[in-house]
This record gives sequence, structure tokens and C-alpha cells, in this order.
Amino acid sequence: MKVGVARETAPGERRVALVPETLGRIQKAGVEVIVERGAGVASHFPDSAYEAAGATIVSTEDLYAQADLVARVQKPSPAEVAMMRQGQAVAGLLQPLLDPRLAADLAARGVIEISLDAIPRTLSRAQTMDALSSQANVGGYKAVVLAAEAYGRYFPMLTTAAGTAKPANVLVLGVGVAGLQAIATARRLGAVVKAYDVRKETAEQARSVGATFIELKSVADATGEGGYARALTPEEQKAQQEELNGHIAAQDIVITTAQVPGRRPPLLVTAAAVAGMRPGSVIVDMAASDLGGNVELSQAGETVETPNGVTILAPTNLPATMPGSASLFYSRNLAALLLTFIKDGRLTIDPKDEVHAATVITNDGQVVQAATRKLLEPAPAPASGGSAA
Ligand code: NAI
Repeated sequence: MKVGVARETAPGERRVALVPETLGRIQKAGVEVIVERGAGVASHFPDSAYEAAGATIVSTEDLYAQADLVARVQKPSPAEVAMMRQGQAVAGLLQPLLDPRLAADLAARGVIEISLDAIPRTLSRAQTMDALSSQANVGGYKAVVLAAEAYGRYFPMLTTAAGTAKPANVLVLGVGVAGLQAIATARRLGAVVKAYDVRKETAEQARSVGATFIELKSVADATGEGGYARALTPEEQKAQQEELNGHIAAQDIVITTAQVPGRRPPLLVTAAAVAGMRPGSVIVDMAASDLGGNVELSQAGETVETPNGVTILAPTNLPATMPGSASLFYSRNLAALLLTFIKDGRLTIDPKDEVHAATVITNDGQVVQAATRKLLEPAPAPASGGSAA
């Protein structure tokens, strides 16, 4: 069996799916590794490092012609999909619930789609494969580094001959994987950190990495399914925003990470809250995307300077800005997943394996993952007899 490491083609993507260090693990399982020329260059893994790890460097055409499984980070481009063939597999963060059309196209070509974002995250066996967590960790760290860079003052308290500098006040909204790493990183830099989340269980987790947890009176626990948050009602959301305003005004730095699966990210920082912040304050909206973010004034991929002197950053792919660490951890996640599929040197899908059942999106020319298949069903015809207006 040949595993091919693709060169990423998504704009701004600098990660690579498998780094040289990890190749030995899958080679031991009887796999030959081929690498698209220059696949690791943007993350500082040159072709020579892959060759030293026993891989063969090939052209783009040869990679798609020869690989039994194409390993990637992001979705393939239409041109890359067009090079894929019956029985070939592709594994990556392929986002079938956001892009069910890709699954349909791959199924139509007879390609097996394996998506790392579908891993059952609460299954302890799957934790080594949890690329969502490893990449969120990188993002949480980098968000704080970016905030520190944009902030015109010290993070730590410093006592010098010229007097004392006060520590920065940092608020982290959303205490999932990225939020916990943001708290820990801001603490390491010496900031005073507060945190808030709608899931009650996060209070203890936030405290364990050095934050003071803010309890809001307006919103009760909003833990939803699978350990994630549920969406708040419009009334709860309004009350939450109003109560948060007072806390936000006292901060130098606000980092937002709040997400609700399958929904637009909740709006936590309103324009009124930003208007109440001091000049020189910095906000990093980690949830920003074309769907919107946690901050009313953020613009995905842009930096906004408000009239009252607040800088709002909205980076959309932080892991790609730390491609060395992000690729290393992604590569370990992917290798752990691939090893479950390799039996006697062949790709073998076991539908009874919980990890396979969750991550195999297309197989045998069909979209097999129920949630993705549902998204592809035609919308029900509108009931007849209504007005034509
Ligand atoms: P996420 O990216 O979906 O959301 C980030 C955070 O935003 C969550 O903590 C969520 O509660 C919070 N949030 C949502 N709406 C909010 C609002 N209106 N106000 C304030 N905060 C809000 O979450 P992530 O980081 O991917 O994972 C969340 C949780 O999933 C973990 O903390 C854990 O419970 C579970 N998980 C479990 C794993 C395991 O058991 N091994 C591994 C990874 C995640």
C-alpha cells in the first residue's frame, strides 16, 4: 500500500499532513510513503528530510496516479479531485458537514473519503487522533501571542528602576480546548486572566490553568449534547451580552473562542461593549469566519481599528501560521488514525470499529455517513395551496 503526502493548495495553508518524523510509524505497518514534490517546504520540512526518512519524492501527477491513500490537511481542489480514481482514499480535515458536495463528488468517482473532523472526540481510544483538539491548541496559543504583539504594553507586572508596570488584564470567552490553551499562555506571559463559558464544568478547568472564572447571573448552565454548548435563546443571549459588557470594559485583551456545533458562532462582544473599552485594548476573535464571529465588529481575515482605539484581529487559520508545530501534531493524529485502517499492509475498513464508522464519509461509491447524506437529500417540496406571493 502506498500513502501519498499531498502538497496543500488551499490559499494561505502552510501545514503538511505527514511530517518526516512520523513516517516510520506507518512504514512499520508495511506502507510505502510517496511525497508530492515540495509538500513540506512551507512548514520547513524539505524534500531531503522526507527522503532521509525513507520516502520517495514524486510529481503531482504521479502522486495521484500511484497513491492508494492521499494524506492531506485541507480539502482537495476541484483539479485534485479530478485526478482521483476509483478505490483510492483521501484523508484530511475534509468538513463533510460544511461541504457535503465534496463527499458527493468523491463518492461519484468511487473515492473513499476519511475525515478527521468526524472523529468521536469523547472516545478515549480516539484522543491521539483528535486533530480538532491539537489544532485548537495551536490556535489558542497563537491568539495570545498575536494579542501580545498588537498590545502596546507589557503583559507581566514588571518592577524596574523607572517604576512598576501593571500586568495586562486578559479575558478569555469560551473555555474549550483553544480557550484553555489561551488562558495558560496568557498566564505564562504574566497576565491576570479571567474566563467565562456557558458550560458549568469549565469553571474548574479554567481555574486549574490559572484563570478566575466569571459566573454570570443571567445565563444558567448551557451544556448541550456531546460535551458541547447548546445555542442560547435570543433572550438568554441578550442578557448574556449585557452582563458581559461590564466585564469587557475592564479588560486590556479579550480573546473569544466560543462555538456551537452546526450554528453561527454566538455574538458575545457587541459594538457597545467595544465602545466601552479603553484605547489600546486588543480583541482576538478566534471564531471569526464568513459566517460571522463572536465579536460584532470583527471582519474575518482583517484587522479593524475602531474610532475609540481598539484593535480587533480576526485570524481565520491560526494553525497555518505555526506550520511546524501544527503539522507535527496533525501528523501524529493522522498516523494514529491511519494505523487503525492498515491491516496486512492494505487499507481495510471495519464498519464495526467506532472510529471507522464515524470517519468514513464515502465508500463503495456511496455517501455512507448519515449526517452528510441527510444534507444531500433534496429539500422537501413546498406544500401546495399557498399563495404565490
Ligand atoms: P468548541 O470549539 O465547540 O467551543 C468552544 C467553547 O465555546 C466551548 O467550551 C463552549 O462551551 C463555548 N461556548 C459556546 N457558546 C458560548 C456562549 N454563548 N458563551 C460562552 N461560551 C460559549 O469546543 P471545543 O473546544 O472543540 O470542545 C468543547 C468541549 O468538547 C471540550 O471542552 C470537551 O468537553 C469536549 N471535548 C472532549 C474531549 C474528550 O473527551 N477527549 C476532546 C475534545 C473536546
